[in-house]
Amino acid sequence: MRAVGVKDYGATPELLEVAKPAAGPGQVLVRVEAAGVNPVDTIIASGRFGRPPLPLVMGVDFAGRVEAVGKGVTRYAVGDPVFGRAAGTYAQYVAVDENGPLSPAPDALELKTAAALPTAGLTALGILDAARVRGGESLLLIGAAGGVGTFLTQLASARDARVLAVTRGDESVRLGLSGAAVTIDATAEDVAGRVRGEEYPEGVDVLVDLVSKDPEAFEANKKLVHDGGVAVSTRGATREHGTVQSGVEEIAFGVKPSAELLAALAELVDAGTLRVFVEEEVPLEQAPQAVARIQHGGARGKTIIKP
Ligand SMILES: NC(=O)c1ccc[n+]([C@@H]2O[C@H](COP(=O)([O-])OP(=O)(O)OC[C@H]3O[C@@H](n4cnc5c(N)ncnc54)[C@H](OP(=O)(O)O)[C@@H]3O)[C@@H](O)[C@H]2O)c1
Repeated sequence: MRAVGVKDYGATPELLEVAKPAAGPGQVLVRVEAAGVNPVDTIIASGRFGRPPLPLVMGVDFAGRVEAVGKGVTRYAVGDPVFGRAAGTYAQYVAVDENGPLSPAPDALELKTAAALPTAGLTALGILDAARVRGGESLLLIGAAGGVGTFLTQLASARDARVLAVTRGDESVRLGLSGAAVTIDATAEDVAGRVRGEEYPEGVDVLVDLVSKDPEAFEANKKLVHDGGVAVSTRGATREHGTVQSGVEEIAFGVKPSAELLAALAELVDAGTLRVFVEEEVPLEQAPQAVARIQHGGARGKTIIKP
């Protein structure tokens, strides 16, 4: 089958011909309708998270239809529309454990669009739960225009949090429609000055920093949170790891995919609470270029790949 991946860790992604997987016991074989692109795909292909066999087919997010079921499968049947996470989804087929992070796809979306949901949607949902956002909080979101940020803006405002969405470039229309109370273009405005000077002189309740890689940059954003507040990093930029010496609780967030959380995402989509912005849809052979683009920043919503 056709796939996109790397022949060596860290190599440039390319179109590959690899063996079609089969549904083993307890597995379903999914004919991929689309794969979602995430920053983590490149990190996995670099070998930083482990050294799976080569060639390595990239991608973790997918949506598609069950093509075959393995021995003992009870929850899915041939033809079912599903979405979820698995290893090697930039491909025509992927084999997935029926009890793994797999769920019936939402009814309210075209099946291919559901491929944009898993990693970014689960991350957005997980962050709001980890930071105990239940309503009424002020939430400063750095990096709001990309995959996680676009979902998080919607989900936080649906919980009645007041979202201050920080982007590079003017994203006020799209993020305003997603529920952001305030959008701040970091290329045109001093973020700290706006937050402390105009919006929340005492500091915000919650910081979600999707951008800062180094602890100094995260620390600077954390200064915009009041004592007793929470600061979340998705990039491991925390120093205190849960302790509150600074008066602000730090959370180094790591996504924990599950069938239950995927089903919760599907429900939010079907209820109209969560919309999916697909910025770009590319055929499989253009996946290497799409991955390179995401690496250089500039994401606006999600990119999906059609095998
Ligand atoms: N720990 C976990 O479990 C986990 C899970 C999911 C994601 N992540 C990580 O979280 C980060 C965000 O993920 P994503 O899927 O949302 O990535 P994405 O779709 O690529 O979006 C990142 C966004 O950040 C923006 N950005 C970059 N620098 C900025 C700045 N200084 N100020 C404001 N915005 C800025 C980018 O646009 P511009 O370049 O135009 O500014 C882009 O819109 C990635 O580093 C990813 O690896 C971690």
